[in-house]
Amino acid sequence: MSTQTVDFTNTASMPAQRTLHEAEPCTIVIFGASGDLARRKLIPALFELSSCGSLARRIAIIGFARSKMTDDAFREAMTEAVRKYSESCAVDEEKLRAFAQAFAYVPGDYNNPEAFDRLTRRVEELDAQHHLDGNRIFYLATPPEVYPAVIDQLRDAHLQENPNGKSWTRLVVEKPFGRDLASARKLNKTVLDVFDESQVYRIDHYLGKDTVQNLAVLRFGNGIFEPLWNRNFIDSVQITAAENIGIETRASFYETAGALRDMIQSHVLQLMSLVAIEPPSAFDATAVRNEKIKVLQAIRPYTPELVARDVVRGQYGSGGVAGVYLPGYREEQGAAKNSATETYVAARVEIENWRWAGVPFYLRTGKRLTRRVTEIAIQFRRAPHMMFRGQEMGSNSLVLNIQPDEGISIMFHAKQPGQEMRLTRVAMDFSYQIAFGGGGRSAYATLLNDCMRGDATLFDRGDGVEAAWALVDPILQAWQSEKPDFPNYPAGSWGPREADTLLERDGRHWRKP
Ligand code: BG6
Repeated sequence: MSTQTVDFTNTASMPAQRTLHEAEPCTIVIFGASGDLARRKLIPALFELSSCGSLARRIAIIGFARSKMTDDAFREAMTEAVRKYSESCAVDEEKLRAFAQAFAYVPGDYNNPEAFDRLTRRVEELDAQHHLDGNRIFYLATPPEVYPAVIDQLRDAHLQENPNGKSWTRLVVEKPFGRDLASARKLNKTVLDVFDESQVYRIDHYLGKDTVQNLAVLRFGNGIFEPLWNRNFIDSVQITAAENIGIETRASFYETAGALRDMIQSHVLQLMSLVAIEPPSAFDATAVRNEKIKVLQAIRPYTPELVARDVVRGQYGSGGVAGVYLPGYREEQGAAKNSATETYVAARVEIENWRWAGVPFYLRTGKRLTRRVTEIAIQFRRAPHMMFRGQEMGSNSLVLNIQPDEGISIMFHAKQPGQEMRLTRVAMDFSYQIAFGGGGRSAYATLLNDCMRGDATLFDRGDGVEAAWALVDPILQAWQSEKPDFPNYPAGSWGPREADTLLERDGRHWRKP
Protein backbone atom coordinates (compact mmCIF):
# COMPACT_ATOMS: atom_id res chain seq x y z
CA MET A 1 0.00 0.00 0.00
CA SER A 2 1.43 3.38 -0.91
CA THR A 3 0.30 6.95 -1.15
CA GLN A 4 3.26 8.04 -3.24
CA THR A 5 1.00 9.84 -5.68
CA VAL A 6 -0.46 12.13 -3.03
CA ASP A 7 1.10 15.58 -3.04
CA PHE A 8 0.91 16.53 0.63
CA THR A 9 2.53 19.88 -0.03
CA ASN A 10 -0.34 20.94 -2.25
CA THR A 11 -2.03 23.16 0.30
CA ALA A 12 -2.43 26.18 -1.91
CA SER A 13 -5.84 27.04 -0.50
CA MET A 14 -4.33 27.67 2.92
CA PRO A 15 -3.59 31.18 4.11
CA ALA A 16 -0.03 32.24 3.43
CA GLN A 17 0.55 33.52 6.93
CA ARG A 18 -0.87 32.79 10.38
CA THR A 19 -3.25 35.67 10.93
CA LEU A 20 -5.45 36.61 13.81
CA HIS A 21 -9.05 37.30 13.06
CA GLU A 22 -12.33 36.17 14.51
CA ALA A 23 -13.48 32.76 13.41
CA GLU A 24 -16.17 32.62 10.75
CA PRO A 25 -19.65 31.23 11.48
CA CYS A 26 -19.79 27.46 11.15
CA THR A 27 -21.32 24.16 12.19
CA ILE A 28 -19.06 21.87 14.21
CA VAL A 29 -20.03 18.22 14.22
CA ILE A 30 -18.27 16.19 16.91
CA PHE A 31 -18.31 12.43 16.27
CA GLY A 32 -17.86 10.58 19.54
CA ALA A 33 -19.56 13.41 21.40
CA SER A 34 -20.46 11.33 24.43
CA GLY A 35 -16.85 10.29 24.95
CA ASP A 36 -14.09 11.47 27.24
CA LEU A 37 -12.25 13.66 24.77
CA ALA A 38 -15.33 15.74 23.94
CA ARG A 39 -16.24 16.15 27.59
CA ARG A 40 -12.81 16.81 29.02
CA LYS A 41 -11.16 18.79 26.24
CA LEU A 42 -13.21 19.83 23.22
CA ILE A 43 -16.33 21.32 24.77
CA PRO A 44 -14.42 23.16 27.54
CA ALA A 45 -12.05 24.50 24.86
CA LEU A 46 -14.96 25.74 22.73
CA PHE A 47 -16.43 27.40 25.79
CA GLU A 48 -13.08 29.03 26.48
CA LEU A 49 -13.08 30.47 22.96
CA SER A 50 -16.65 31.59 23.30
CA SER A 51 -15.93 33.31 26.65
CA CYS A 52 -12.98 35.18 25.21
CA GLY A 53 -14.92 36.29 22.14
CA SER A 54 -12.84 34.09 19.80
CA LEU A 55 -15.76 31.97 18.67
CA ALA A 56 -18.04 33.28 15.98
CA ARG A 57 -21.32 34.54 17.36
CA ARG A 58 -23.19 32.36 14.88
CA ILE A 59 -22.30 28.75 15.53
CA ALA A 60 -23.88 25.32 15.93
CA ILE A 61 -22.22 22.44 17.77
CA ILE A 62 -23.77 19.10 16.92
CA GLY A 63 -22.84 16.06 18.95
CA PHE A 64 -23.07 12.71 17.17
CA ALA A 65 -22.62 9.41 19.01
CA ARG A 66 -24.23 6.04 19.57
CA SER A 67 -25.75 6.89 22.97
CA LYS A 68 -29.38 7.92 22.81
CA MET A 69 -29.83 11.45 24.08
CA THR A 70 -32.06 14.45 23.45
CA ASP A 71 -30.69 17.90 22.62
CA ASP A 72 -31.50 18.97 26.16
CA ALA A 73 -29.75 16.03 27.78
CA PHE A 74 -26.66 16.68 25.64
CA ARG A 75 -26.77 20.37 26.53
CA GLU A 76 -26.98 19.46 30.20
CA ALA A 77 -24.11 16.95 30.01
CA MET A 78 -21.89 19.42 28.16
CA THR A 79 -22.55 22.34 30.51
CA GLU A 80 -21.63 20.02 33.37
CA ALA A 81 -18.45 19.06 31.50
CA VAL A 82 -17.50 22.73 31.13
CA ARG A 83 -17.97 23.33 34.87
CA LYS A 84 -15.88 20.29 35.69
CA TYR A 85 -13.05 20.46 33.16
CA SER A 86 -12.65 24.08 32.12
CA GLU A 87 -8.89 24.74 32.26
CA SER A 88 -8.14 28.39 31.95
CA CYS A 89 -11.32 30.39 32.18
CA ALA A 90 -13.45 31.02 35.23
CA VAL A 91 -16.88 29.69 34.31
CA ASP A 92 -19.38 32.51 34.01
CA GLU A 93 -22.81 30.85 34.28
CA GLU A 94 -24.50 33.41 32.10
CA LYS A 95 -21.95 32.94 29.32
CA LEU A 96 -22.28 29.20 29.75
CA ARG A 97 -26.08 29.35 29.31
CA ALA A 98 -25.68 31.41 26.16
CA PHE A 99 -22.97 29.05 24.86
CA ALA A 100 -25.17 25.98 25.50
CA GLN A 101 -27.77 27.34 23.08
CA ALA A 102 -25.44 26.28 20.27
CA PHE A 103 -25.77 22.56 21.10
CA ALA A 104 -27.75 19.93 19.26
CA TYR A 105 -27.45 16.17 19.28
CA VAL A 106 -27.96 13.42 16.73
CA PRO A 107 -27.81 9.82 17.99
CA GLY A 108 -26.78 7.11 15.56
CA ASP A 109 -24.51 4.35 14.51
CA TYR A 110 -21.33 5.32 12.69
CA ASN A 111 -22.08 3.14 9.70
CA ASN A 112 -25.78 3.72 9.45
CA PRO A 113 -26.72 5.80 6.37
CA GLU A 114 -30.05 6.78 7.92
CA ALA A 115 -28.28 8.32 10.89
CA PHE A 116 -26.18 10.35 8.47
CA ASP A 117 -29.33 11.41 6.61
CA ARG A 118 -30.67 12.70 9.90
CA LEU A 119 -27.35 14.40 10.57
CA THR A 120 -27.42 16.05 7.13
CA ARG A 121 -30.93 17.37 7.71
CA ARG A 122 -29.90 18.72 11.09
CA VAL A 123 -26.78 20.38 9.70
CA GLU A 124 -28.79 22.04 6.91
CA GLU A 125 -31.57 23.10 9.24
CA LEU A 126 -29.22 24.76 11.75
CA ASP A 127 -27.17 26.27 8.96
CA ALA A 128 -30.24 27.98 7.52
CA GLN A 129 -31.63 28.95 10.92
CA HIS A 130 -28.40 30.56 12.19
CA HIS A 131 -26.94 31.73 8.84
CA LEU A 132 -23.80 29.66 9.17
CA ASP A 133 -22.82 30.23 5.53
CA GLY A 134 -22.40 26.51 4.80
CA ASN A 135 -19.08 26.32 6.72
CA ARG A 136 -18.51 22.99 8.41
CA ILE A 137 -16.03 21.21 10.65
CA PHE A 138 -16.27 17.46 11.18
CA TYR A 139 -14.29 16.39 14.22
CA LEU A 140 -13.37 12.70 14.57
CA ALA A 141 -13.23 12.14 18.33
CA THR A 142 -14.32 8.50 18.18
CA PRO A 143 -12.07 5.48 18.70
CA PRO A 144 -9.81 5.34 15.61
CA GLU A 145 -11.33 2.07 14.35
CA VAL A 146 -14.45 4.06 13.51
CA TYR A 147 -12.75 6.78 11.41
CA PRO A 148 -13.08 4.98 8.05
CA ALA A 149 -16.79 4.30 8.58
CA VAL A 150 -17.48 7.96 9.42
CA ILE A 151 -15.47 9.20 6.45
CA ASP A 152 -17.33 6.86 4.10
CA GLN A 153 -20.67 8.00 5.46
CA LEU A 154 -19.70 11.66 5.13
CA ARG A 155 -18.87 11.00 1.47
CA ASP A 156 -22.11 9.09 0.83
CA ALA A 157 -24.08 11.90 2.43
CA HIS A 158 -22.09 14.46 0.33
CA LEU A 159 -21.20 16.22 3.56
CA GLN A 160 -17.57 16.69 2.52
CA GLU A 161 -18.67 19.00 -0.28
CA ASN A 162 -18.97 22.75 0.01
CA PRO A 163 -22.71 23.41 -0.09
CA ASN A 164 -22.27 26.74 -1.82
CA GLY A 165 -19.21 27.75 -3.81
CA LYS A 166 -17.93 30.09 -1.09
CA SER A 167 -18.04 27.95 2.05
CA TRP A 168 -15.43 25.61 3.53
CA THR A 169 -15.53 22.09 4.97
CA ARG A 170 -12.77 20.74 7.21
CA LEU A 171 -12.03 17.39 8.81
CA VAL A 172 -10.23 17.17 12.15
CA VAL A 173 -8.65 13.82 12.94
CA GLU A 174 -7.62 13.01 16.48
CA LYS A 175 -4.52 11.10 17.40
CA PRO A 176 -3.63 8.25 17.13
CA PHE A 177 -3.42 8.53 13.35
CA GLY A 178 -2.79 4.84 12.62
CA ARG A 179 -0.90 2.35 14.76
CA ASP A 180 2.02 1.75 12.38
CA LEU A 181 3.20 2.95 9.00
CA ALA A 182 0.92 0.65 6.97
CA SER A 183 -2.23 1.64 8.87
CA ALA A 184 -1.30 5.35 8.78
CA ARG A 185 -0.89 5.14 5.00
CA LYS A 186 -4.17 3.33 4.70
CA LEU A 187 -5.91 5.97 6.82
CA ASN A 188 -4.33 8.79 4.81
CA LYS A 189 -5.65 7.14 1.67
CA THR A 190 -9.15 6.76 3.14
CA VAL A 191 -9.16 10.40 4.22
CA LEU A 192 -7.68 11.76 1.01
CA ASP A 193 -10.01 9.77 -1.22
CA VAL A 194 -12.78 11.95 0.20
CA PHE A 195 -11.13 15.17 1.37
CA ASP A 196 -8.39 17.32 -0.08
CA GLU A 197 -5.23 17.56 2.05
CA SER A 198 -5.96 21.28 2.53
CA GLN A 199 -9.21 20.31 4.30
CA VAL A 200 -7.54 17.90 6.75
CA TYR A 201 -6.39 18.89 10.25
CA ARG A 202 -4.52 16.10 12.06
CA ILE A 203 -4.28 16.97 15.72
CA ASP A 204 -1.27 16.69 17.97
CA HIS A 205 -2.32 18.73 20.96
CA TYR A 206 1.30 19.42 21.98
CA LEU A 207 1.55 21.81 19.04
CA GLY A 208 -1.24 23.88 20.57
CA LYS A 209 0.72 24.51 23.76
CA ASP A 210 2.10 28.04 23.98
CA THR A 211 5.44 26.80 25.25
CA VAL A 212 5.80 24.51 22.23
CA GLN A 213 5.05 27.34 19.81
CA ASN A 214 7.50 29.41 21.78
CA LEU A 215 10.25 27.08 20.61
CA ALA A 216 9.92 28.66 17.19
CA VAL A 217 9.81 32.14 18.72
CA LEU A 218 12.89 31.51 20.85
CA ARG A 219 14.88 30.28 17.89
CA PHE A 220 13.63 32.50 15.10
CA GLY A 221 12.30 35.56 16.91
CA ASN A 222 15.66 36.30 18.55
CA GLY A 223 19.05 36.94 17.10
CA ILE A 224 21.16 35.46 19.88
CA PHE A 225 20.24 31.79 19.97
CA GLU A 226 20.21 30.67 16.35
CA PRO A 227 23.93 31.28 15.73
CA LEU A 228 24.66 28.78 18.52
CA TRP A 229 22.02 26.29 17.44
CA ASN A 230 24.22 23.70 15.75
CA ARG A 231 26.84 21.02 16.18
CA ASN A 232 29.63 23.56 16.75
CA PHE A 233 28.14 24.71 20.04
CA ILE A 234 25.63 22.07 21.10
CA ASP A 235 26.85 18.84 22.65
CA SER A 236 23.54 17.00 22.96
CA VAL A 237 19.81 17.51 23.44
CA GLN A 238 17.55 15.81 25.97
CA ILE A 239 13.78 15.74 25.63
CA THR A 240 11.81 14.46 28.58
CA ALA A 241 8.04 13.96 28.67
CA ALA A 242 7.48 12.47 32.10
CA GLU A 243 4.13 11.79 33.74
CA ASN A 244 3.48 10.81 37.31
CA ILE A 245 0.05 9.39 36.54
CA GLY A 246 -0.42 5.76 35.54
CA ILE A 247 -2.77 4.68 32.77
CA GLU A 248 -5.85 5.58 34.82
CA THR A 249 -8.95 4.09 33.16
CA ARG A 250 -7.42 3.74 29.69
CA ALA A 251 -6.08 0.17 29.86
CA SER A 252 -8.04 -1.06 26.86
CA PHE A 253 -6.49 1.65 24.68
CA TYR A 254 -3.07 1.55 26.30
CA GLU A 255 -2.66 -2.21 26.08
CA THR A 256 -2.76 -1.89 22.28
CA ALA A 257 -0.69 1.30 22.16
CA GLY A 258 2.19 1.62 24.64
CA ALA A 259 4.46 4.60 25.22
CA LEU A 260 6.23 4.43 21.86
CA ARG A 261 3.01 4.86 19.88
CA ASP A 262 1.24 7.02 22.44
CA MET A 263 3.94 9.60 23.12
CA ILE A 264 7.13 9.18 21.07
CA GLN A 265 5.63 8.81 17.58
CA SER A 266 3.57 11.93 18.14
CA HIS A 267 4.30 14.48 20.87
CA VAL A 268 7.99 13.80 21.47
CA LEU A 269 8.91 13.70 17.78
CA GLN A 270 6.99 16.95 17.30
CA LEU A 271 9.10 18.59 20.00
CA MET A 272 12.25 17.19 18.49
CA SER A 273 11.34 18.42 15.01
CA LEU A 274 10.82 21.94 16.30
CA VAL A 275 14.17 21.90 18.09
CA ALA A 276 15.92 20.68 14.96
CA ILE A 277 14.22 22.38 12.00
CA GLU A 278 15.94 24.77 9.66
CA PRO A 279 14.47 28.29 9.72
CA PRO A 280 11.28 28.22 7.62
CA SER A 281 10.86 31.18 5.29
CA ALA A 282 7.55 32.03 7.02
CA PHE A 283 5.53 30.77 9.95
CA ASP A 284 2.87 29.22 7.78
CA ALA A 285 1.49 25.75 7.17
CA THR A 286 3.46 24.97 4.05
CA ALA A 287 6.86 26.33 5.06
CA VAL A 288 6.85 25.02 8.64
CA ARG A 289 5.63 21.57 7.73
CA ASN A 290 8.03 21.29 4.79
CA GLU A 291 10.91 21.91 7.19
CA LYS A 292 9.61 19.56 9.88
CA ILE A 293 9.41 16.65 7.54
CA LYS A 294 13.02 17.18 6.45
CA VAL A 295 14.08 16.61 10.06
CA LEU A 296 12.15 13.36 10.35
CA GLN A 297 13.56 12.17 7.05
CA ALA A 298 17.11 12.95 8.16
CA ILE A 299 16.91 10.77 11.28
CA ARG A 300 19.14 7.74 11.07
CA PRO A 301 16.79 4.78 10.53
CA TYR A 302 16.77 2.10 13.21
CA THR A 303 18.16 -1.30 12.28
CA PRO A 304 17.46 -4.21 14.67
CA GLU A 305 21.02 -3.75 16.05
CA LEU A 306 20.44 -0.04 16.67
CA VAL A 307 17.14 -0.76 18.39
CA ALA A 308 18.90 -3.18 20.72
CA ARG A 309 21.64 -0.64 21.41
CA ASP A 310 19.84 2.71 21.40
CA VAL A 311 16.26 2.11 22.51
CA VAL A 312 15.20 1.15 26.02
CA ARG A 313 11.68 0.13 26.98
CA GLY A 314 10.24 -0.26 30.43
CA GLN A 315 7.09 -1.04 32.35
CA TYR A 316 6.34 0.13 35.87
CA GLY A 317 5.99 -2.31 38.69
CA SER A 318 4.47 -1.41 42.03
CA GLY A 319 6.15 1.30 44.02
CA GLY A 320 5.38 4.11 46.33
CA VAL A 321 5.58 7.85 46.74
CA ALA A 322 5.61 9.41 50.21
CA GLY A 323 4.42 6.18 51.79
CA VAL A 324 1.51 5.77 49.37
CA TYR A 325 1.38 2.42 47.56
CA LEU A 326 1.21 2.65 43.77
CA PRO A 327 0.16 -0.46 41.85
CA GLY A 328 2.25 -1.85 39.02
CA TYR A 329 1.02 -1.64 35.44
CA ARG A 330 -0.01 -5.29 35.38
CA GLU A 331 -2.17 -4.69 38.44
CA GLU A 332 -4.07 -1.84 36.76
CA GLN A 333 -7.67 -2.63 35.92
CA GLY A 334 -7.90 -3.97 32.38
CA ALA A 335 -4.17 -4.62 31.91
CA ALA A 336 -3.07 -8.18 31.13
CA LYS A 337 -1.35 -9.96 34.03
CA ASN A 338 1.60 -10.77 31.78
CA SER A 339 1.39 -7.63 29.65
CA ALA A 340 4.40 -6.76 27.50
CA THR A 341 3.14 -3.21 26.88
CA GLU A 342 5.80 -0.59 27.52
CA THR A 343 4.98 2.38 29.73
CA TYR A 344 8.45 3.89 29.32
CA VAL A 345 10.75 4.52 26.35
CA ALA A 346 14.16 6.13 26.12
CA ALA A 347 15.91 6.45 22.78
CA ARG A 348 19.08 7.86 21.33
CA VAL A 349 18.39 9.53 18.02
CA GLU A 350 20.82 10.88 15.45
CA ILE A 351 19.92 13.45 12.83
CA GLU A 352 22.13 13.00 9.82
CA ASN A 353 22.53 16.46 8.39
CA TRP A 354 25.09 19.27 8.47
CA ARG A 355 23.57 21.07 11.41
CA TRP A 356 23.23 18.08 13.74
CA ALA A 357 25.78 15.45 12.69
CA GLY A 358 27.34 14.02 15.85
CA VAL A 359 24.84 15.63 18.26
CA PRO A 360 22.78 12.92 19.93
CA PHE A 361 19.17 13.63 20.83
CA TYR A 362 18.08 11.63 23.86
CA LEU A 363 14.33 11.20 24.15
CA ARG A 364 12.45 9.72 27.09
CA THR A 365 8.87 9.40 28.16
CA GLY A 366 7.10 7.35 30.77
CA LYS A 367 4.12 6.92 33.02
CA ARG A 368 4.34 6.72 36.80
CA LEU A 369 7.65 8.54 36.93
CA THR A 370 8.74 10.70 39.84
CA ARG A 371 6.96 13.79 38.66
CA ARG A 372 5.15 15.38 35.76
CA VAL A 373 7.52 17.42 33.66
CA THR A 374 8.02 18.01 29.97
CA GLU A 375 11.27 19.75 29.15
CA ILE A 376 13.87 20.19 26.48
CA ALA A 377 17.45 20.57 27.67
CA ILE A 378 20.00 21.90 25.22
CA GLN A 379 23.42 20.92 26.50
CA PHE A 380 26.19 23.17 25.17
CA ARG A 381 29.81 22.19 24.70
CA ARG A 382 32.26 23.02 27.44
CA ALA A 383 34.44 26.09 27.25
CA PRO A 384 37.44 25.07 25.12
CA HIS A 385 40.11 26.09 27.62
CA MET A 386 39.99 25.83 31.42
CA MET A 387 41.84 28.89 32.63
CA PHE A 388 40.40 28.72 36.17
CA ARG A 389 42.71 26.04 37.48
CA GLY A 390 41.46 23.62 40.08
CA GLN A 391 37.83 24.45 39.32
CA GLU A 392 35.27 21.90 38.19
CA MET A 393 33.56 23.33 35.18
CA GLY A 394 30.47 21.77 33.71
CA SER A 395 28.83 22.90 30.52
CA ASN A 396 26.09 25.45 29.97
CA SER A 397 22.57 24.40 29.32
CA LEU A 398 19.39 25.99 28.13
CA VAL A 399 16.28 24.34 29.52
CA LEU A 400 12.87 24.91 28.02
CA ASN A 401 10.22 23.88 30.47
CA ILE A 402 7.17 23.01 28.42
CA GLN A 403 5.07 22.13 31.48
CA PRO A 404 4.07 22.42 34.27
CA ASP A 405 6.36 25.32 35.39
CA GLU A 406 6.37 26.90 31.97
CA GLY A 407 9.51 28.88 31.32
CA ILE A 408 13.09 28.93 30.14
CA SER A 409 16.31 28.77 32.18
CA ILE A 410 19.91 29.26 31.19
CA MET A 411 22.51 27.60 33.37
CA PHE A 412 25.94 29.19 33.46
CA HIS A 413 28.91 29.75 35.78
CA ALA A 414 29.40 32.73 38.04
CA LYS A 415 32.08 33.73 40.50
CA GLN A 416 31.08 33.08 44.07
CA PRO A 417 31.50 36.23 46.19
CA GLY A 418 34.70 36.22 48.22
CA GLN A 419 38.43 36.53 47.84
CA GLU A 420 38.97 33.22 46.15
CA MET A 421 38.19 32.53 42.54
CA ARG A 422 35.46 29.95 42.94
CA LEU A 423 32.99 29.16 40.23
CA THR A 424 29.48 28.00 40.82
CA ARG A 425 26.55 27.12 38.57
CA VAL A 426 23.70 29.61 38.57
CA ALA A 427 20.47 29.92 36.61
CA MET A 428 18.79 32.79 34.84
CA ASP A 429 15.07 32.07 34.74
CA PHE A 430 12.16 33.27 32.66
CA SER A 431 8.77 32.19 33.99
CA TYR A 432 5.57 32.42 31.96
CA GLN A 433 3.60 32.78 35.17
CA ILE A 434 5.65 35.73 36.39
CA ALA A 435 5.96 37.44 33.01
CA PHE A 436 2.41 37.00 31.78
CA GLY A 437 0.35 35.86 34.77
CA GLY A 438 -1.71 32.69 34.59
CA GLY A 439 -4.56 31.91 32.25
CA GLY A 440 -3.00 31.09 28.91
CA ARG A 441 -5.22 29.45 26.36
CA SER A 442 -5.63 25.68 26.46
CA ALA A 443 -3.95 23.75 23.65
CA TYR A 444 -7.28 22.55 22.28
CA ALA A 445 -8.70 26.08 22.27
CA THR A 446 -5.74 27.28 20.20
CA LEU A 447 -6.05 24.40 17.76
CA LEU A 448 -9.82 24.64 17.36
CA ASN A 449 -9.51 28.35 16.76
CA ASP A 450 -6.78 27.80 14.17
CA CYS A 451 -8.91 25.21 12.42
CA MET A 452 -11.87 27.58 12.30
CA ARG A 453 -9.57 30.21 10.78
CA GLY A 454 -8.18 27.75 8.25
CA ASP A 455 -4.64 27.82 9.61
CA ALA A 456 -3.04 24.36 9.55
CA THR A 457 0.46 25.39 10.69
CA LEU A 458 0.03 23.63 14.04
CA PHE A 459 -1.46 20.48 12.56
CA ASP A 460 0.27 17.47 11.14
CA ARG A 461 0.39 16.87 7.42
CA GLY A 462 -0.13 13.40 5.94
CA ASP A 463 3.53 12.96 5.00
CA GLY A 464 4.63 14.12 8.47
CA VAL A 465 2.58 11.45 10.20
CA GLU A 466 3.89 8.81 7.84
CA ALA A 467 7.51 9.90 8.34
CA ALA A 468 7.09 9.62 12.12
CA TRP A 469 5.66 6.13 11.77
CA ALA A 470 8.45 5.15 9.37
CA LEU A 471 10.88 5.98 12.15
CA VAL A 472 9.19 4.00 14.92
CA ASP A 473 8.05 1.03 12.80
CA PRO A 474 11.41 -0.80 12.95
CA ILE A 475 11.38 -0.42 16.73
CA LEU A 476 7.92 -1.95 16.96
CA GLN A 477 9.03 -4.79 14.72
CA ALA A 478 12.22 -5.47 16.65
CA TRP A 479 10.32 -5.56 19.93
CA GLN A 480 7.81 -8.07 18.60
CA SER A 481 10.39 -10.82 18.43
CA GLU A 482 11.66 -10.44 22.00
CA LYS A 483 9.91 -10.89 25.29
CA PRO A 484 10.80 -8.00 27.59
CA ASP A 485 11.80 -8.52 31.17
CA PHE A 486 8.98 -6.50 32.74
CA PRO A 487 8.35 -4.84 35.13
CA ASN A 488 11.71 -3.13 35.26
CA TYR A 489 11.14 0.13 37.14
CA PRO A 490 9.19 0.89 40.27
CA ALA A 491 6.30 3.36 40.11
CA GLY A 492 7.49 6.72 41.37
CA SER A 493 11.07 6.34 40.07
CA TRP A 494 12.80 7.89 37.03
CA GLY A 495 12.58 4.73 34.92
CA PRO A 496 14.69 1.64 34.24
CA ARG A 497 18.41 1.48 34.96
CA GLU A 498 19.12 0.73 31.28
CA ALA A 499 17.99 4.25 30.40
CA ASP A 500 20.81 5.64 32.53
CA THR A 501 23.28 3.26 30.92
CA LEU A 502 22.20 4.54 27.51
CA LEU A 503 23.69 7.94 28.36
CA GLU A 504 26.54 6.77 30.59
CA ARG A 505 27.86 4.83 27.63
CA ASP A 506 28.30 8.19 25.88
CA GLY A 507 29.82 9.80 28.98
CA ARG A 508 26.62 11.72 29.74
CA HIS A 509 23.74 11.51 32.19
CA TRP A 510 20.09 12.54 32.29
CA ARG A 511 19.42 15.96 33.69
CA LYS A 512 17.44 15.81 36.91
CA PRO A 513 14.34 17.82 36.11
C1 BG6 B 1 -2.02 11.99 25.16
C2 BG6 B 1 -1.65 10.58 25.54
O1 BG6 B 1 -1.89 12.17 23.78
O2 BG6 B 1 -1.15 12.89 25.84
C3 BG6 B 1 -1.73 10.39 27.04
O3 BG6 B 1 -2.54 9.68 24.91
C4 BG6 B 1 -0.89 11.42 27.75
O4 BG6 B 1 -1.31 9.08 27.42
C5 BG6 B 1 -1.23 12.83 27.25
O5 BG6 B 1 -1.16 11.33 29.15
C6 BG6 B 1 -0.26 13.83 27.81
O6 BG6 B 1 -0.71 15.11 27.49
P1 BG6 B 1 -0.35 16.35 28.42
O7 BG6 B 1 -0.88 17.53 27.67
O8 BG6 B 1 -1.03 16.11 29.74
O9 BG6 B 1 1.13 16.34 28.56
